[in-house]
Amino acid sequence: MSSAAAAAASANLAKGLEGVIAGETAICSIEQGGLWYRGYEIHDLAQNATFEEVAHLLLVGHKPSAAELAKFKAEIIAERPLHPSVTSFIESMGGYLASGRAVPMDVLRSAVSILGHTDPDAQSVAADANLRKAKRLLAKIPTIIGHMQNVIDGKAIIGRELGGDPTLGHAANLMYLMNGNKPSPDYARVIDISLILYAEHDYNASTFASRVIAGTLSDMHGAVSGGIAALKGPLHGGANEMAMEMLREIMQDCGEAAIGTSAVDDWMQKAFDTKRKLMGFGHRVYKNGDHRAPILHKLGRNIAEKDTKNPGNHAAIKWFELGEQVQKIMLAKKNIHPNVDFPCGLTYFTMGIPVPQYTPIFVASRITGWASHIMEQHANNRIIRPLSLYSGPAYRKWNS
Ligand code: COA
Repeated sequence: MSSAAAAAASANLAKGLEGVIAGETAICSIEQGGLWYRGYEIHDLAQNATFEEVAHLLLVGHKPSAAELAKFKAEIIAERPLHPSVTSFIESMGGYLASGRAVPMDVLRSAVSILGHTDPDAQSVAADANLRKAKRLLAKIPTIIGHMQNVIDGKAIIGRELGGDPTLGHAANLMYLMNGNKPSPDYARVIDISLILYAEHDYNASTFASRVIAGTLSDMHGAVSGGIAALKGPLHGGANEMAMEMLREIMQDCGEAAIGTSAVDDWMQKAFDTKRKLMGFGHRVYKNGDHRAPILHKLGRNIAEKDTKNPGNHAAIKWFELGEQVQKIMLAKKNIHPNVDFPCGLTYFTMGIPVPQYTPIFVASRITGWASHIMEQHANNRIIRPLSLYSGPAYRKWNS
């Protein structure tokens, strides 16, 4: 390529594929004005659907009838227990998890890979096999998360034989598996809605990674493992943990008495001066705000208002007040809105969920979106293989 042509190509390059339409999907659409899963708007789903219904909508392709939903739920409950190879792997990681040397997202990624080794449909990419694998992954990921938390806490594994409590729905069982307490209906519904909000988001980084893997006709467990690796990053799903860590840092540096005062502005100004990225803010697609964020913020705040516990020795509502002040400053000084990960961090913290489990819980939801995209990719496949613009040394001889 001539240098003029290379310069022209470089000028036209969409860094980070911003604005590039990389494929079609019938699963989800995102506009500045909203978010739709298979044509249903996200507020409608958050208000009127359950996570299991949304999972069916995404994976099977339509809103379930009562009979279809009952069958779907029964299938998921039956698939909750883990193969002993996965449980022993999690137990073998106990010391590393407890010391923080191994993080739950990485152990979850490996556990999902191990699940693939014993799945009867492992190597098939046929539609029926893919759907069976998707349901198994949906069922088993909360069990993995719960078992990991049990070994971190040095507890006997809760619900080892049954994958929790078969009388509990998906969200409530996830909480039960983690700490052995059955959550109140209010708490369970907030988790359920957070799972609805996290379920799907078109060609986001982790879904695109999963589609690239699936596009080689590789298998679902491999594609999902790749999705988990992509989601872990702090610029993507890892932001829900990092957002809460940032609030903890502000609380520690400024103190509770500083909430509502200029001390928080000063902390933020220092962050701006050092060009620090503030986690839980900004979005590649939404420039006027993430539609999911206010839904979760309101729910989390309601829980915090009622909460008399003191996570981190500060009343739960104080964390929301701090978060709201940080949001105001970001908007006033940078015109950047919070994304869903910001209220998620606050909400899960209020509920006493350990911070390193926030992104794994995101996985427990996004598995539905990834698996739907993997199935869509396999159903109408063409390998995903873009071009790059070479920017290395001039061509040369090895023996010169
Ligand atoms: N904190 C501070 N500044 C931010 C910011 C944030 N969270 N998000 C964006 N910006 C600024 C950038 O510094 C950049 O400013 P500049 O033009 O002066 O350099 C501008 O806004 C555009 O941001 P950019 O990083 O180029 O946008 P992107 O589309 O490439 O990245 C994100 C989008 C989500 C990766 C980015 O906003 C981010 O890193 N956010 C924090 C992580 C996060 O919450 N991720 C979860 C996403 S759902």
